[in-house]
Order: sequence, then structure tokens, then C-alpha cells
Amino acid sequence: MNTYIRNYSKNELIEDTGRISWTSPSNIALIKYWGKYGHQLPCNTSISFTLNESKTTMDFSWSSKDTPSDEIVLDFYFENKKNQLFEDKIRAFLEKNRELFPMLKFLNLEIESINSFPHSAGIASSASSMSALALGLCSIENQAFDLDIPETDLIQKATYVARLASGSASRSVFPEIASWGENSLTSIKSSDELAAPVEGVHEVFKTYRDSIVIVDGGEKAVSSRAGHALMEAHPYREQRFKRANELVETLYNILKSGDTKSFCDLVETEALELHGLMMNSSPSFILMRPNTLAVIEKIREFRKESGLDLCFTLDAGPNVHILYPQSIEEEVQTFLSSEIKPLAQNGLIIHDRVGQGPERFL
Ligand code: PMV
Repeated sequence: MNTYIRNYSKNELIEDTGRISWTSPSNIALIKYWGKYGHQLPCNTSISFTLNESKTTMDFSWSSKDTPSDEIVLDFYFENKKNQLFEDKIRAFLEKNRELFPMLKFLNLEIESINSFPHSAGIASSASSMSALALGLCSIENQAFDLDIPETDLIQKATYVARLASGSASRSVFPEIASWGENSLTSIKSSDELAAPVEGVHEVFKTYRDSIVIVDGGEKAVSSRAGHALMEAHPYREQRFKRANELVETLYNILKSGDTKSFCDLVETEALELHGLMMNSSPSFILMRPNTLAVIEKIREFRKESGLDLCFTLDAGPNVHILYPQSIEEEVQTFLSSEIKPLAQNGLIIHDRVGQGPERFL
């Protein structure tokens, strides 16, 4: 029995209409989730920094249906315009998971979503938007039906629901550093179903900056969904999942110790490993662009010359996330302006940092 299903009836609807609003951030994985099984479960544990500036704000309004029905009544607006494509995707998700939200029988929903980052920046918006959606749905259920769900339980259901919508979104509901996936480490509390905050991390990592170099803001040639599917018959499948779980342990020790040098080595190796997996897939694909490599080379040169601990990671795309502690921000900003900006599409670099997770406004 799924503990996240709460049963209630229209008689218990105490707020016939209402509005709430959530802002939820994107995240950048340090150890990547790449390959899944079952119902959106990860083949290895992943760990990410929760971001601060790259986020989705979702406003939700609800009203009581005249007559309860199985029809999902949803109006979805993206950046102030009706968006049929996103609306259909969310409706399909809710239809598939309707048992998680009995309220859908009794309520009409309207959702307005806005991202803080430009649409063409090539930043994955599924983590921020799907975590915002999950938090909104869980809060409406709690408030409209007066369920009195404790905050920690609400967040647990939100990470569960966010995971079903987009795996990496499960980590975005937590502040600073989060993990997702089963692991033998006692300090990693996540499971395959639920993400969790990573505790005991050295303060230096909570000050980390992420300057996202937009190398190409266009649509990706291969979606994450297709990439995960290619891991099913991947020649390095078993080695990858075993190694990723080992890297989680190594990374956790680094995060505890505050060793920013070892952090650079591990995070860069892992980023290139993800792209190596893509190149070794069948069919093979490459998401990096010439300027992705040019940026990587510049970072490595600058690190060697300056002795500063900045490093890069990559998501499933060509853009480069440059990670560094706040203490070297000034030097890194000078380097970015002179060496990296010319390699970014339209000179676009988004300056983000480790953040405190989602916030509810209304
Ligand atoms: O959450 P999805 O299905 O979009 O997959 C995300 C995969 C990566 O971004 C490449 C890695 C990760 O763990 O975030």
C-alpha cells in the first residue's frame, strides 16, 4: 500500500477555492543519474547541488467541481500564455498517477508557470518545474482538505511525486546538497523512491558558485529519456552502476572533509564519464559541442596556472557548469569575462550558486 495516498471525499473539502504559489530550483548533479528501472527508479545513487537562481515559480488556483468526475480539469499557462503542449504532458502525468491525488475528482486546477532563466538557455527546466508541480499539488491537497499533514511528510510525498514526473526533480525539493537512490552508506538516507538531504557536508561546499556557460541554448538532439533507455543494453552498464555507487562514497568523504582539490578531480571525471557513456551507446551520440571542449581546456589551463580549485561538470547537454567556492569568486569572475565569455553563445553565462531549496509564497 502506497503510504502517499490519502483518501478523502468532497465532504471534507473545506476550501472551495484557493491559491498557492511555490518557487522551486533546478539542481546540478555531481554524480549523475543515468539509467533507470521499474517505475522511475534509478540504477545508481546520484548527488546534486541544489541551485538558487535557476528556478520555476508556479501559481496554482483551484475551485470545486460542480459534480465530482474522473475528468482532469486543468488549464496550464507558461510565461503568461496558454501552453497546450505542457498542459497535455501534465494531464497525462496526472492521469497516470491519479491514485496519488484523489482531489483531482473534486477540483478544477489552473497553473501558471514562469522560469527565471531564458527559455533558450538550454537549462533543463524539468527539475525545477516538476518539483514545483509536486509541491503545489501536495500543498493544495493538504490545505483544501485540511489534512494537517506535517511539513516533513509533505516534503516526502513531494519528492516521491517529483521523481515520478522527472527523476532528477526528486532532489530539488531539498536545500544545498541532496542524494537520490539506495546506498549502503549510513549517512546517505535516500532510497530509490525518495531523495533526501545529504548531511554532514563541510561549510565550504555550501558556498559553491555555479557559473553556467551557455555553449548552445538549442533543443537537445537526444532527450534524457532516450539516453536513460540506451543504458538498458549498454556494454558498460554493470560497471557503470557499480562505479557510480563507489564514486558516491568517495564524493561523500570529500564533501565531509572540505577537500576542494579532490572534489575537482572527481567531479570532472564523473562529468566526462557521463558523456563517455553517451558516446559508447548504441546508437552513439555526442551532446558536447566544439566550444564545450574549448571551455573545458580553458578551465584546466587556468586551474594549472592559478592553483585555484575551480572545476567543471556537464549535464546531459553542451553547456558547462563551472563550480568554485565563494572565496575565489573575484578571480574566477575576471577569468570568465576575459576567457570564457567569448566562447558562450551570445556571451551568456548564468551565475548561480548553492541554494536553500523551494519556497512557498502564498
Ligand atoms: O531527470 P531526468 O530524467 O531529466 O534525467 C537527468 C539526467 C541528468 O541530468 C543527466 C543527471 C542527473 O542526475 O541530473
